[in-house]
Amino acid sequence: MALRRPETRLGHFSEYLKLCGLKKEHLVSPLFVSENKRSIGAMPGLSISSLDDIEKYAQNISDRGILSVILFGVPSRRSADGKIAMDAEGIVQKATSRIRSHFGSSLTILTDVCVCQYNTSGHCGIADKDGRINNDSTLELLAGIAVSQVQAGADIVAPSAMMDGQVQAIRTKLRDSGVKAAILSYSAKHSSSLYAPFRSAAFAKSRTELDKSSYQVSYANPRQAMREIETDINEGADMVMIKPAMAYLDLIRMAKDTFDFPLAAQNVSGEYAMIKAAGIKGLIDEHEWKVNTLGSIRRAGADRIISYFATDIAEYV
Ligand code: PBG
Ligand code: ZN
Repeated sequence: MALRRPETRLGHFSEYLKLCGLKKEHLVSPLFVSENKRSIGAMPGLSISSLDDIEKYAQNISDRGILSVILFGVPSRRSADGKIAMDAEGIVQKATSRIRSHFGSSLTILTDVCVCQYNTSGHCGIADKDGRINNDSTLELLAGIAVSQVQAGADIVAPSAMMDGQVQAIRTKLRDSGVKAAILSYSAKHSSSLYAPFRSAAFAKSRTELDKSSYQVSYANPRQAMREIETDINEGADMVMIKPAMAYLDLIRMAKDTFDFPLAAQNVSGEYAMIKAAGIKGLIDEHEWKVNTLGSIRRAGADRIISYFATDIAEYV
C-alpha cells in the first residue's frame, strides 16, 4: 500500500520506537495451543498451534529475539467444574513442559490462569446452582491451576479471572506446594467487547458475548482500576496489568506514577483485529499503526507489553 514510502519505513519506525523507549525485552508474544492446529477467522494472520507444533511456533517467536511467551490453552473438551484446567496432562501443562525442555531458560514462559476455556459456562469463575459465580470456591481452583502450570515449568503465572483474592490464594498455594514462580496479575481487566476475537478462537460461538461485568472492571470507573491494582500489590503480586491498552494509556501512566511498580499492559485481540481488518481493507497503513500502538503503550509506562503484534514489530526494535 502506498500510504508511506516503503524505503523510509524501517528507519522511521526504528527511530520512533527508540524515542518511545521500546525494546524487544518489553514484548511478550501470545501463543494459542490446542489439540489441533487451526486458523483464527477473527484474527487474520494468526493461528492456534497444535501441541506437536508448539516448539516450531515458539521457535518462530524466539528467532525474532523475543524472550517471553504467554500460553493460552484452547482445550477440545470442557467440563462443568472446569477442573480439567489443572490436569497435569492438560494442554497448557503439556505445552509448557515441551517448550521448557526445548528452550531451557532462554524463553520465559507465562501461563494464563483462568477457567473460562475449560468450563461449560465460559465464565471466569465456577457458578453455584443459582447461576451466581462463587468467588471463593473459584479461588481454590485457580490456585490449583497455577501450581500445575508451575510444576510443568511456567516461570510466571498470570491470573486473568478477576476473582477477589486470586493473587493471595495463588501465592499461598505456591508456597505450600513448595514451588516458585512470579505472579503477573491481570489486575485491571476491563469488561470489553474487545475480547470477542479471542473468545471466537477459544470459545464456542454462543460464548463470545458473555457478560463478565460483575467481576471485570467498568471502563467508566478508573478509580476502581487503581484500587484493583493496589489490592493485588498488597496481596503479593510481582507485576500488575492493565487491559485493554489502547484506550487506557492514561491509566497506564496513572498506575506507573501512582505505584511505581512493575506494570504490564495487554494489547488485546480486538485491538489486533481492528488494525488488521482496516489494514486488509486498505483503509489504514497496518504497519504504521502496529508501530504507533506499541510505541505509545511503552511511552505511557508499560514495562511489559503482551501483544499479537510482538513478532511483527520485532524487526524495528
Ligand atoms: C481468559 C482470558 C481472556 C483474555 C485473556 N485471558 C478472555 C476473557 O476474559 O473473556 C482476552 C485476551 C484478548 O482478548 O486478547 N480469562
Ligand atoms: Zn477467564
